[in-house]
Amino acid sequence: MRCTHFMESRPPTWLADAFFYEVYPQSFLDTNGDGIGDLPGVIAKLDYIRSLGCNAIWLNPCFESPFGDAGYDISDFYKVAPRYGSNADLTRLFKEAHKRGMRVCLDLVAGHTSTEHPWFKQSSKDGSNSFTNRYVWMNNVFSGPPPGLSMISGFSEREGNYITNFFHFQPALNYGFAKPDPQKPWQLPVDHPDCLATREEMKNIMRYWLDAGADGFRVDMASSLVKGDKDFKETMKLWADMRAMYDAEYPDAVLIAEWSDPARAIAAGFHIDFLIHFNDPSYTSLFRSEPERDLFGFFKNVPPSFFDRKGKGDICAFLDSYLKHFRKTRRSGYISIPSGNHDIMRLAEGRTMDELKVAFTFLMTMPGVPYLYCGDEIGMGYVRGLVSKEGGYNRTGSRTPMQWTKGRNAGFSTAPAKNLYLSIDPARNRPTIEAQEKDPDSLLNHIRQLATLRREHPALGGDGDFEPLYAKRNRYPFVYQRKLGGQRVLVAVNPSDQPVTVMIEASCSKATVLDGVDTTMERAGKKWLIRMGGVSSGIFTLEA
Ligand code: GLC
Ligand code: CA
Repeated sequence: MRCTHFMESRPPTWLADAFFYEVYPQSFLDTNGDGIGDLPGVIAKLDYIRSLGCNAIWLNPCFESPFGDAGYDISDFYKVAPRYGSNADLTRLFKEAHKRGMRVCLDLVAGHTSTEHPWFKQSSKDGSNSFTNRYVWMNNVFSGPPPGLSMISGFSEREGNYITNFFHFQPALNYGFAKPDPQKPWQLPVDHPDCLATREEMKNIMRYWLDAGADGFRVDMASSLVKGDKDFKETMKLWADMRAMYDAEYPDAVLIAEWSDPARAIAAGFHIDFLIHFNDPSYTSLFRSEPERDLFGFFKNVPPSFFDRKGKGDICAFLDSYLKHFRKTRRSGYISIPSGNHDIMRLAEGRTMDELKVAFTFLMTMPGVPYLYCGDEIGMGYVRGLVSKEGGYNRTGSRTPMQWTKGRNAGFSTAPAKNLYLSIDPARNRPTIEAQEKDPDSLLNHIRQLATLRREHPALGGDGDFEPLYAKRNRYPFVYQRKLGGQRVLVAVNPSDQPVTVMIEASCSKATVLDGVDTTMERAGKKWLIRMGGVSSGIFTLEA
């Protein structure tokens, strides 16, 4: 088996100025009146997505599935779910996106399938067949789960329990155990031919869609594949092997991790890793403040959010962790801080449009690759009181249909309201794309301006250096510098509602404002004075 440790090859160059848009297909745009968003709907809105400045899409799973977990329970990796369209529609999406200079990445649910998958049906039979070891099965139905794992017993005629990866109907695919227990022969080593077969099949699935025109994959629960792998060494080797396939066969395609440990994920071979809601409270310290804002409930004491007008947050809680990851991944891959996703509380929860603008000024001027979750560009709200849909539970409120217009069903669908995938946000003042398009001061247009600034200033892009200039524990604002070649850009954000004035060192002779609200920067002897109103931000170019 090939074992690569640190990745030496650089990520594809297009990532340096990539800006991704996450499309949640079922809630995006319904074109055939069945109440569910579909691929022709995504194609119809490509020009809109492009108009935001986004040049790449991450599409949540769109494959055949019983939809117990909104499509993260796949029953056929090679077939588009009929509710979204056909394989030909997906290929057409790739083509239409490419015509517009955009890329499309799919979602790879590598860790598990649905119990409805034909592999699992074979695997759950008594006796032995080529899928017997495709999943992790213990050998005695009356034994308990190994530490840290969950299992289901009594599912079928097969003796033994299967290990699950998430919900009960998502059996874990078998990539082996890092340190198989010799007393438990059902724990296979990672290089067992049946575990290697699982791995090869995942590669074939990727090849199939990459050959059809996909530009890469976001990998679901990327750290979950090898079991009993405390230090993730074997999981990292596995991804290094996958990355070797990318480097050899698809050098322009990208591997994006849902790991939330960029230092590890990128060393393992991923080009991008998200900093999100698990493993590390740094994301939570930026955007979530009350316990309910952490939908997965991973953190017992959710720290006060820095991006909150109460001004009780601590930027250092984020920076301490971020800088460690940033330094370790600087040349080999990108960290992404998304505006949100289908699993977490909407960014707009508890925030005004002005506060959202400040949050986006930060999101769009940090290093790495920005990701916008569909609907966040207009500040779509988290909808309370919905009955769980397709395994969403409290995530359901972040998954409601896009609000395109002020018309019927917010322009999402022509179906009777009762047939919609989820009901439209009932809020009377719910934001719409139609209204924000017309308003030059809208969040939507603010994001467009930020995307333009980022594109026009490579220092603000993925590869620019990052240096905090003012970041103090429990203090506001946060000021940082981005730099590339001779270009320097300073960004100041003050999410709190209190005006602030700070002195910073910036060896420059001239500062010119590029964008901002209520923020000035003037010379004060050898230093510079930054004055900011409450809930404000400023972006300046600096000249030597
Ligand atoms: C990831 C997905 C989430 C899904 C889970 C299981 O966290 O983002 O939506 O439920 O994995 O596949
Ligand atoms: Ca439809």
